[in-house]
Amino acid sequence: MALVAEIGKEEKGPERTGLEPLTALVSEDLQAVNRLIVVHMDSPVALIPQLAGHIIAAGGKRLRPMLTLAAAKLCGYRGERHLGLAACVEFIHTATLLHDDVVDASDLRRGLATANAVWGNKPSVLVGDFLFSRAFQLMVADGSLDVLRILSNASAVIAEGEVLQLMTANDTSSDERAYMEVVEAKTAALFAAACRIGAVVAERPEAEELALENFGRDLGIAFQLVDDVLDYSALQADLGKSVGDDFRDGKITLPVVLAFQRANQDEKTFWRRCLEDQEHQEGDLEKAIALMQRHDALADSMAKAREYAVSARDALERFPEGPAKAALREIVDFCVGRAY
Ligand code: IPE
Ligand code: IPE
Ligand code: MG
Ligand code: MG
Repeated sequence: MALVAEIGKEEKGPERTGLEPLTALVSEDLQAVNRLIVVHMDSPVALIPQLAGHIIAAGGKRLRPMLTLAAAKLCGYRGERHLGLAACVEFIHTATLLHDDVVDASDLRRGLATANAVWGNKPSVLVGDFLFSRAFQLMVADGSLDVLRILSNASAVIAEGEVLQLMTANDTSSDERAYMEVVEAKTAALFAAACRIGAVVAERPEAEELALENFGRDLGIAFQLVDDVLDYSALQADLGKSVGDDFRDGKITLPVVLAFQRANQDEKTFWRRCLEDQEHQEGDLEKAIALMQRHDALADSMAKAREYAVSARDALERFPEGPAKAALREIVDFCVGRAY
């Protein structure tokens, strides 16, 4: 139970205020969700709660489950189904993180060593599978085929997005369209589903389900665009993840696409050596960042994130004004302005 008390109670610095309205709106529900997470990550196989507990107790923003809780509130829902489903959404997210850190060979997550760095790749993949399965058990317990359809579709699409990303990695001819396809799949699909199921449990008309789905999708796209900028511009201490992993792995994110398109011949040779041949030298990351700055690749990626943020905010229009809508609007700003 000590674990439950710790979750979500980390020091809040001034830059964390953007999350505050949403956290305040759903705080009681979120505590219940955190308790469900701890209960359902348990297993008699000791390594499972040990490894899962490591990443879960490290915190994370709990953004996706909070979106489910807030969307349900926005739709006037008064029951308890949203709690188990929010836990389910965080399980799906956590499972993808465990797998993603193996695929990306990352060694820092939520300010701690990644599970793969501590226990190795094999347990990380398998415990990721366990958490996915737990997520499906929670969907079955909820009993709605609509919810099952939405979340199982999202799970399949996330996996497709990660595989698609693998196929575009190290390929400098991969373009913005391919990048957007990856982002919609690996990140925005879960944001969209997390929001949509809030309307489903509240039994709201399909138009509201779709509005929340659009809100989540556009927010998720903005969120990942910012994440990909932060991978070249954040401070590791703020981010809790290693900066520069995307460059080292040769990921073709939007900042790379734009910098490559705008590069002269020498610069193109540099990008090809680093991203395609994966031959890295001292100072390459700094040079990559300087080239991105010279060609406005980071600024233009942020501008694109802001466009999606505007569109996310527009999707909320049909809903009544009130604390839930205000908190969701604030979260859009948080996602674009975040440093972690
Ligand atoms: C990380 O998501 C994965 C991405 C989609 C970039 P978050 O930044 O929401 O991760 P946590 O849950 O807060 O650690
Ligand atoms: C997001 O991609 C991962 C998933 C949505 C599964 P990233 O690889 O950019 O996420 P981080 O940066 O490792 O958190
Ligand atoms: Mg990653
Ligand atoms: Mg990233």
